[in-house]
Amino acid sequence: MAERAVVTGGAGFLGSHLCDALVERGMRVTCVDDFSTGEPANVPPAVDLVHADVREPLRLPPSELVLHFACPASPPAYLASPVGTLETGGFGTHHVLEEARRLGARVVVASTSEVYGDPLEHPQRETYWGNVNPIGPRSVYDEAKRFGEALAFAFRREHGLDVGVVRIFNTYGPRMKSSDGRMLPTFFAQARKNEPLTVHGDGTQTRSLCYVSDLVRGVLAMADSGEAGPVNLGNPEEVTVLEVAKQVIEVTGSDSEIVHVGAMTDDPRRRRPDVTRARELLGWEPQIPLERGLRLMARET
Ligand SMILES: NC(=O)c1ccc[n+]([C@@H]2O[C@H](COP(=O)([O-])OP(=O)(O)OC[C@H]3O[C@@H](n4cnc5c(N)ncnc54)[C@H](O)[C@@H]3O)[C@@H](O)[C@H]2O)c1
Repeated sequence: MAERAVVTGGAGFLGSHLCDALVERGMRVTCVDDFSTGEPANVPPAVDLVHADVREPLRLPPSELVLHFACPASPPAYLASPVGTLETGGFGTHHVLEEARRLGARVVVASTSEVYGDPLEHPQRETYWGNVNPIGPRSVYDEAKRFGEALAFAFRREHGLDVGVVRIFNTYGPRMKSSDGRMLPTFFAQARKNEPLTVHGDGTQTRSLCYVSDLVRGVLAMADSGEAGPVNLGNPEEVTVLEVAKQVIEVTGSDSEIVHVGAMTDDPRRRRPDVTRARELLGWEPQIPLERGLRLMARET
């Protein structure tokens, strides 16, 4: 079993929960982060912090496991620097894969349900190739992640790198920044201030939301396996955005109303992972239903 791990993006939402879980396993953990959207305060004290931008060539410490999570993930963050987002997914992933190869480490690359774009197949299985607008504003994230997957599989084929790809569907929980523009932290921040919850479009678009502790278990199961993937990790419980807004108002005991604002460009209409592959290959499935997860988030944020 691996004793030393590197988590790129370890100061962010998912990365910091992964650092916690690896430290709990008794591993020596290094977090590599440029703190563009993450905070050093998110990282547990036992973790070695390295301030670095993965877009630049880098040297990782000896490790048997690399979890590559560095990338802006919220739409306002990745749209703020379109070229930078493509560089992080492209050059950044290349640098990390090269380092994992030099170290002989297993590497798990964080991909996303966004590789499916606005899906024409529902629910989404890993065999679906996606429906992405390659030149729309969101393409800087979606195509960077698709390129990252292509690169991971090229390293596997050409260099025999032990790499696995996880396609993460919307995940939520404590430590999401209230200002980062993603749906749940935005709803929670609005509900806490008794301000109207802003639903994009008519709110009938669906999302499937996974609580962070379930996601962390899935990523670690992938790390422990020798699987290449890609493997979907997400919660197949599908709800409308309007329903999510109503539940947030309920769990926070807020007086907020719901208002509708303009739909987002290329916003997917429907999202639901098929997690059969994760169940069969990793013995993983999510355990925390949305209502319970929202109550946990309300308690801890
Ligand atoms: N949270 C989700 O629902 C979700 C869904 C799909 C995929 N993902 C993927 O998981 C990963 C983490 O997402 P998150 O939700 O924790 O986002 P986040 O913004 O909270 O974390 C990203 C972290 O990466 C760091 N980072 C960004 N660019 C960097 C660079 N060039 N060099 C070094 N560090 C850099 C940030 O400072 C931050 O700490 C991302 O790769 C994201 O694409 C997340």
